[in-house]
Amino acid sequence: MEEAADYGIDSPTIVAGLLLAGVAGIGLAAAVLTIGPGHAWVILFLFAAGIYFLPARAGMLFYSKAGKLRLRDEILGAIPWRHDEWVLDVGCGRGLLTIGAARLLTTGRAVGVDVWKPADLSGSCPHAALENARAERLAARVSVLGADARVLPFRGASFDVMVSNFVLHNLNPRAEREKAVGGILRVLKPGGRMVLSDFIFTDEVESALRSLGADDLRRVRSESQSSWLTTLLNFGKVRVFRVTGAEPRSEDSAVPFEERGTSVFT
Ligand SMILES: C[S@@+](CC[C@H](N)C(=O)[O-])C[C@H]1O[C@@H](n2cnc3c(N)ncnc32)[C@H](O)[C@@H]1O
Repeated sequence: MEEAADYGIDSPTIVAGLLLAGVAGIGLAAAVLTIGPGHAWVILFLFAAGIYFLPARAGMLFYSKAGKLRLRDEILGAIPWRHDEWVLDVGCGRGLLTIGAARLLTTGRAVGVDVWKPADLSGSCPHAALENARAERLAARVSVLGADARVLPFRGASFDVMVSNFVLHNLNPRAEREKAVGGILRVLKPGGRMVLSDFIFTDEVESALRSLGADDLRRVRSESQSSWLTTLLNFGKVRVFRVTGAEPRSEDSAVPFEERGTSVFT
């Protein structure tokens, strides 16, 4: 599989902050050591803090460079594809899931929406997503639109598949996440599949979906993010879950796809 695209570094400011904190901790420990004997606890504390932050940073970088491609394959692999679907990737960033889904289509379309917050993903903008789609030779099946996850500008029952990765945790408070979850279910066609992946609040997402009547709901820990290396780098802290489910089938026929009041970047 061609991987010429660059899907960015998640939370780049946190990644930079962890490097700074790690280097500062070890540097300060060394500085205190040069002052002279004593201060053993201070040195130990600063050194331990430095040692703590550096692998945490490495863990985040490792995810951004390798882990997210595996997570993409796991998320998309949880969907029984017909290959003619209309897919919506909520919070698409630089197009990780949008482009991954487009690769699985022979007809249909993969649409990504985002508000492109630079603090959440390095170099995140619509043009980066489209550039990645071109690099993967999938631009013909990809559209990206500026839209907030909480106010999806689509008619109800527009998409066969809804996916989202590491987006819902950005919405606060809980009511905002529930609003987004409600919107995701609204634009999903009857019988359509969804996979929502994140590292926190997935239990809330599951119960919000359950209360809205989602079908065939499951919340499972990500297999691709559970390796010994990921666990080691994250000190066992970060646990990624994917919530899969479907919009219950109804007698209503699906409403055709329509984009409304959005800027379309193609
Ligand atoms: C960590 S990035 C993940 C991007 C992409 N899903 C991926 O896996 O590479 C989180 C994304 O959520 C987007 N985001 C944050 N708040 C959003 C909102 N209210 N509506 C839509 N997207 C949002 C950010 O702009 C960013 O692109």
